[in-house]
Amino acid sequence: MRVPLLDLPRQHALVRDDVAARIARLFESQQFIMGPAVEEFESAFRDFVGCGYAVGMSSGTDAQLAILMAMRIGPGDAVLTSPYTFFATAGCIHRCGAEPVFADVTGDSLNLDPEKLREFLESRCTAGPDGSLLTPRGNRLRAILPVHLFGMCCPMDEILALAERFGLAVIEDAAQAAGAEYPGAGGTINAGAIAESAYFSFFPTKNLGGAGDGGIAVCRDPEFAERLRLMRNHGMGQQYFHREVGGNFRLDALQAAVVHAKLPHLAGWNAARRRNAAHYARAFAARGLDGFVRTPPAPLPGFENSHIYHQYAVRARDRDALMAHLRAADIGCAIYYPVPLHLQECFAYLGHRAGDFPVAEAAARESLALPIFPELRPEEIEAVADAISAFYKQPR
Ligand SMILES: Cc1ncc(COP(=O)(O)O)c(C=O)c1O
Repeated sequence: MRVPLLDLPRQHALVRDDVAARIARLFESQQFIMGPAVEEFESAFRDFVGCGYAVGMSSGTDAQLAILMAMRIGPGDAVLTSPYTFFATAGCIHRCGAEPVFADVTGDSLNLDPEKLREFLESRCTAGPDGSLLTPRGNRLRAILPVHLFGMCCPMDEILALAERFGLAVIEDAAQAAGAEYPGAGGTINAGAIAESAYFSFFPTKNLGGAGDGGIAVCRDPEFAERLRLMRNHGMGQQYFHREVGGNFRLDALQAAVVHAKLPHLAGWNAARRRNAAHYARAFAARGLDGFVRTPPAPLPGFENSHIYHQYAVRARDRDALMAHLRAADIGCAIYYPVPLHLQECFAYLGHRAGDFPVAEAAARESLALPIFPELRPEEIEAVADAISAFYKQPR
């Protein structure tokens, strides 16, 4: 049985009419840049996340860049993030002229490990003359950027406490976590509303995906929201008067219309992803695959929305051979991510070596994402489990 990694046409069938109606209205208005479609989506998304302000952006990458620029992060600064994430997270830090610094992840969630973070802050950084925290390369550490990888929030209570202790800002990379909840000490809170600012991606394959690139930045503070709006429009307050240099980071009205049509479905889609993840866990256990395939963490007890399985990445023994076997059987799978960021060629100047972040490096060798999209059928999950079982049980 052919099982695709993702099947967007199945999703489109559910939202076709609403998407078409919104796009038809937009074409009637011909207001493609900013305007009501963007503003209406921004307030719907703000309400969904439960944050103060939402500012639509041209992609998740541009949303991150706008946040860093609005914080005036630049040369001489540093931002700490995970070495095991999509490239943009560290790429944007570099593009601002700042130094990307890393701390290793935990073996289960593959999210930033607060213990490793604490170790880095306490023993690798030094106090600068003005009381700032300097990285080993001598740059001023300004912020921690935890990535809620694969749809599960980082341990934010610990991260926020460390940030406060060391005087650092916190920016959430929630690109993969729209609708995920964090059961924090102060109550359950949505990804994106935990720290002072955050960003999401609407890349078509995301759990809330547009019909092209799109993203959004969210924040608590009204003045910061104003700075984000300034950054997304060339630093322009009054027309053709530029207070600062920003960029064209505007969310297309067309994309806003598409993701607005999909937003009411997101909670149900996330629940379906969770059901699929639970089905995989049962199917692997029934086939005795526990020693071969390590499943991603289950949602935290009592907090089912704490994992929305944006990706369902297992840790697999003999991963590359398993991937070849699945692809030969017409089962979609992918590696997120084959090279951790500290070992990327473009970051060679940071001087990292293999072994610096062993947990991230092991994940890059072992992790394999399986189909998890909401419309995946039970028999397709069984077929994936059968194919994996056939691979490990074959005489080799
Ligand atoms: C973790 C993470 N951060 C940032 C991004 C960047 O988002 P975009 O592709 O919308 O620029 C993505 C998405 O690809 C992502 O998965």
